[in-house]
Amino acid sequence: MDDHLTTAPPAAAISTYPVSLRINGQQHRFEVEAWVTLLDLLRERAGLTGSKKGCDHGQCGACTVLVGGKRINSCLTLAVMQNGKDITTVEGLADGTRLHPLQQAFIEHDAFQCGYCTPGQLCSAVGLMNEGQAGTVADVRELMSGNVCRCGAYPGIVAAVTEVMGLPERKDNPDRPYLPGTVPA
Ligand code: FES
Ligand code: FES
Repeated sequence: MDDHLTTAPPAAAISTYPVSLRINGQQHRFEVEAWVTLLDLLRERAGLTGSKKGCDHGQCGACTVLVGGKRINSCLTLAVMQNGKDITTVEGLADGTRLHPLQQAFIEHDAFQCGYCTPGQLCSAVGLMNEGQAGTVADVRELMSGNVCRCGAYPGIVAAVTEVMGLPERKDNPDRPYLPGTVPA
């Protein structure tokens, strides 16, 4: 038998790159391969599994986190691209044991069922408020439209976000009254 045919070539060394991130107020350093997404770094290497992987294609918003206060789909950005940035995940929204007002409002408005989309919805809503672009309930719906909820918890989500923003609730649709825990027909 020909030895050179059966001997596997030496594996090429895989390059890694240093990434320094401030995540939820704490500084972290990682060595990551170039193809690691921010979402995978947060979930697999930082142990922060609050951010969810729904589609991994930028279509559902389940992975939404804040980078420098701006909401992004963390599945669509590479970790190395965010080197030096300040990241907030859903785990960083509460102030110690005190929930973020949006988290409290989500509970009070029954704004989730399975909860899979909820971390992304919450981070997205914080980003929405930082942007200062939403002045009506319809604006909230439009500007949160990148966050999909397969359970249909939208009425509660809209009610929770608009309440925290101090917007008049459902003025755009007064003939479909909203009751927490129900989906208007
Ligand atoms: S997992 Fe990132 S948008 Fe769906
Ligand atoms: S609460 Fe289940 S996907 Fe939104």
